[in-house]
Amino acid sequence: MMNIVLLGPPGSGKGTQSAKLIAKYGLKQLSTGDMLRAEVKAGTDLGKKAKIIMDQGNLVSDDIIIDMIAKRMDNSDCANGVIFDGFPRTEAQAKALDALLSKKSAPLMAVIELDVAPHVLVGRLKTRIAETLAEGDAVRSDDNEETLITRLKNYRDQTAPLIPYYRQHGILKPVDGTLPVDDISAIIEKFLDSKRGGARKAGMGGPG
Ligand code: AP5
Repeated sequence: MMNIVLLGPPGSGKGTQSAKLIAKYGLKQLSTGDMLRAEVKAGTDLGKKAKIIMDQGNLVSDDIIIDMIAKRMDNSDCANGVIFDGFPRTEAQAKALDALLSKKSAPLMAVIELDVAPHVLVGRLKTRIAETLAEGDAVRSDDNEETLITRLKNYRDQTAPLIPYYRQHGILKPVDGTLPVDDISAIIEKFLDSKRGGARKAGMGGPG
């Protein structure tokens, strides 16, 4: 089972790289942002609460997020492995994920950190807004410069501390997120393939 975390600030390319990894390894993507937006769209109580927080650029509470992920991970479509996109975002979430995966005897194989400077992220956000409008679609309600500043601050204060956490666990792979999309994918795939090869050589099994 191949479980991977994509870690990075808003707009760093987590969703973009998830799509590539799904195609290559047949993994299930669990994006907590997408799951929350689905709740908002469905008008559930959770969605109503979450929308207020998301529109401010703040983080939804750990309890809600951990419960949402724990329920979803029991689905059979996660059996091959999961790409966690935008989760964990706090130390409490990271510890909860470790506990959930340890119950399944399928620890995290890798944490890919997409490193992109804030000024580049602001530029990408503007492009994404322009492209969405050009396609006639609705712009995400948290996609504006004011909210992005809060989202970036929350990343720096609450999520970036996970970088040393995962480095200590020996599973962190920092990647320059400003490279072209396909170059980033190639770096990630090379790293994951070396991890899979290493696990097989050590007689630890792993996906075929
Ligand atoms: P979430 O949906 O996770 O959003 P985010 O982290 O802000 O990230 P984005 O989806 O904006 O960007 P991305 O990194 O996926 O980049 P993308 O591939 O789209 O979270 C939204 C909110 O939900 C949070 O603020 C919070 O309120 C809540 N939430 C979610 N999870 C939570 C959790 N675990 N705990 C608590 N609250 C939670 O790319 C961005 C743009 O850049 C695109 O236009 C793309 O085409 C372009 N691009 C991508 N890669 C490249 C490249 N290499 N070069 C040039 N352009 C590129």
